[in-house]
Amino acid sequence: MPVPPELILKQMELGPMENFQYFLGDARSKQIAVVDPAWDVDYLCDEARENGYKISLVLLTHGHPDHVNGLKEILSRHGVPAYISRHEASFLKPKHKNIVEVEDRQKIRVGGIEIECLLTPGHTPGCQCFLYKNILVTGDTIFVDGCGRCDLPGSDPRQMYHSLYNVLMKLPDTTAIYPGHNYGAVPFATLAEQKKTNPYLTCAGIEEFLSERMGL
Ligand SMILES: [Fe+2]
Repeated sequence: MPVPPELILKQMELGPMENFQYFLGDARSKQIAVVDPAWDVDYLCDEARENGYKISLVLLTHGHPDHVNGLKEILSRHGVPAYISRHEASFLKPKHKNIVEVEDRQKIRVGGIEIECLLTPGHTPGCQCFLYKNILVTGDTIFVDGCGRCDLPGSDPRQMYHSLYNVLMKLPDTTAIYPGHNYGAVPFATLAEQKKTNPYLTCAGIEEFLSERMGL
């Protein structure tokens, strides 16, 4: 499960809720996107500077506070665009002039690489994952051996089933999942592994999924 050599991928567990924040970027130009800046913006900015990285943009998987708490602060230090799904933007608080709404499958350039946005609603109406080759940053759509809650305002377990089974599970089995929380036994895992051990990816159909996720 090698990380492509041209990609910067750095996983950082920060904050009181086992959140993972990420740097995703271009190893050649050292331009990076910060994914879900919510906790310890000082650490994120120091870490970028010490590695010689230039923060070029922000990517948001969704608008829950534990993924966006640090957005205003990081944008005040780095006046860069922050990309969120257009299906999620109306839920984001506070509003910010740097917010850019994106479509499903839209590609966002970071230096010399392009990261693809995959719309995966279910946990929220506009959850999205970020894909570069075999690397998938999943936010709260899927965790190692788990998936996002579907009982929150704006959640929809049927949409989550579609996102998991018809979007994410259609990706190559070698895809490595990098989740939004450190809830599993390991911090990341391949889709092939998850298709064996994740109880939300091993359901025979939507009824079993709804039973597993919602206790219906
Ligand atoms: Fe969330």
